[in-house]
Parts: sequence; structure tokens; C-alpha cells
Amino acid sequence: NPVIIEDKDKMRNWSRAMRSQGKTIGLVPTMGYLHEGHISLIKEAQKHAQIIVVSIYINPGQFSPSEDLSTYPSDFHGDIQKLMSVPGGVDAVFHPYSLYDYGSKTGSGGVDREGAKEKKVGVVSCVEDGGLGHETWVRVERLENGLCGKSRPVFFRGVATIVTKLFNVVEPDIAVFGKKDYQQWRVIQRMVRDLDFSIKIIGSEIMRETDGLAMSSRNVHLSPEAREKALSINSSLSRARLAAEKGQVNCRELRDVVIKAIEEAGGRIDYAEIVDQESLGEVEEIRSPVVFCVAAWFGKVRLIDNMEIKYM
Ligand code: PAJ
Repeated sequence: NPVIIEDKDKMRNWSRAMRSQGKTIGLVPTMGYLHEGHISLIKEAQKHAQIIVVSIYINPGQFSPSEDLSTYPSDFHGDIQKLMSVPGGVDAVFHPYSLYDYGSKTGSGGVDREGAKEKKVGVVSCVEDGGLGHETWVRVERLENGLCGKSRPVFFRGVATIVTKLFNVVEPDIAVFGKKDYQQWRVIQRMVRDLDFSIKIIGSEIMRETDGLAMSSRNVHLSPEAREKALSINSSLSRARLAAEKGQVNCRELRDVVIKAIEEAGGRIDYAEIVDQESLGEVEEIRSPVVFCVAAWFGKVRLIDNMEIKYM
């Protein structure tokens, strides 16, 4: 059974003790409410490291005040049950109360997760800190702008910053991120390269329900009807990929297929873009490996999904 660690210093000391025994450490960062998608990241991590640390922390720094921090699902005990039954096991669960709390001596006045939920704080703008008492942020300036960055302007700086903090606390050799959050994976990869973190970043494939819906902690908020309609995302993406594989290289045509299908199902498109897999720059014609990224609202739930399309 995994050891549960809540304190940053204890976490770092635990990792260092493992390291001094010659073990390699793999980190899987999560916000909890674990599902098979998260478990698949753990299995991937097991291939690359001897010791597995899963972090469970709902990071207020990546939610803006209008977003769903206060309703983000959590079930720590359920999560631990799930982690206990992962074949091969998880060695430690890092579950900090707040990662923005530096103790009173620094006078930085951290806000804890529950406090943040109550006061509905989140990050407001580039200069405001949303009550987190935090002023140092990591930004991946170009990659964070498109796709999800457009409608969630402070999201990636919150993610890059918390992942930096987790890296500094856990000191892993490798870390695994899901391609479900494709832009997030690329942002972290780029950050690690640009800032010389000595950590290997591994991208892991999207896990789907048997009907094709990409697994997400947010899926619990979908009504049965909305869930049914949300299947239009994956099914239309699959159709677009098939068309591309049969030679349709015109991205406008491909996007139309997906936008129409999602809108007809009653979804509201946030974006549907075909972008280069590395630069995430939008392309008009498929001439390199691309990824078709979609974000759409079904009722009050915003879902994201994507599909990689090889260049034939
Ligand atoms: P969370 O949404 O909990 O996701 C944790 C990890 O699980 C991410 O790397 C995400 O891409 C991956 N994941 C989620 N659903 C998946 C699926 N269906 N298939 C494969 N992987 C999936 O992403 C976050 O948390 C946070 O932003 C975090 C990185 C922890 C920083 O706070």
C-alpha cells in the first residue's frame, strides 16, 4: 500500500531516501478523482521508473474565478482504494493540503485548497494572484496561447508553475502526462527543455470509455443525455481522421465535419483546430503530423479531446 505524504519536506526527504538507495522515481501528477486514464499513466510510469509517486492536488492556481474549482470532484478515499489495486503498485501518494503555503515566517500568506474553494479565489490576471499569495509564475509564452489558452488565459501558467513546484518537491527522474491534455503535455515538455529540468517527460495515450468518450474526472457532471451527445466529439474526430487518411488534406473541410457534428448534437464549440503536433501552430493543409484538438461545452461541462493524424 502506498505511503501517504502530506508535507513537502517529508515528500522531498522520502524521494531523496529512495534515490540514495539507487532507485529511479516516476511522478504522475493528478488532481484526483482517479479513473482508468490516470491508472494508465501509472502503468506507463512503471515501465520507466522503479518507484512511483502519484500526486493528488487540486491546484487553485490553474482555475480562474469563473471556472469550476468549487465543483471539481474529489474522493480521496476512493482514490486510495483504486491506487491500492493497481498491479505493480504505487509507492507514495503526495497529497499536500496546500502547495502555496510557506508557513507564517515568510509572511506569504498562502491560501489552502478549502479556503480557496470557499472564497472562490483563483487566478485573475497576469498581475493579480487570485489570493494565493504567489508572485512567481512559469510561463511558456507561445505554446500557452492557442487552443485552451485562448479561453483559459491563466490555465497554463498555473499548470506550469504547479508542475515546477511538484518537480522541485518530488525530484523525479521521469514524469508522465496524458495526451488527452495534449497542449498541457507539450507545454510541460517545452518548459522542461527550456529550463533544463533533468526530468524525462513521457506522453501517454488517451484512455476512452468503450463507447469512445475520453475519460475525464469532469464526466461525472454530464447528465446521461449530455453524455450521449458528447460522443459526437470522438465519433466526428474519428471520421475526420479516416477522411484525412484517405487523402483529405484540406483542414477547413475536415474541421467542418467535426464542428457540424458537435453542433448538431447540441454542443457548443470552444475550438476545433488542426495544429502541428510540435508547434501547435494551426495548419491549413496536412503536410506534417498534426493533431486535431477540440474543446466543446455540453451544458455546463467543458470537454476536451483530440486525435493525432499521421502525415501519409
Ligand atoms: P488531471 O486532469 O487530474 O489529469 C492528470 C493526468 O491524467 C494528466 O496528465 C492528464 O492528461 C491525464 N489524463 C486525464 N484523462 C486522461 C485520459 N482519458 N487518458 C489519458 N490520460 C488522461 O491534468 C491535470 O490533472 C492537472 O492539470 C495537473 C497536470 C495535475 C496539474 O495540476
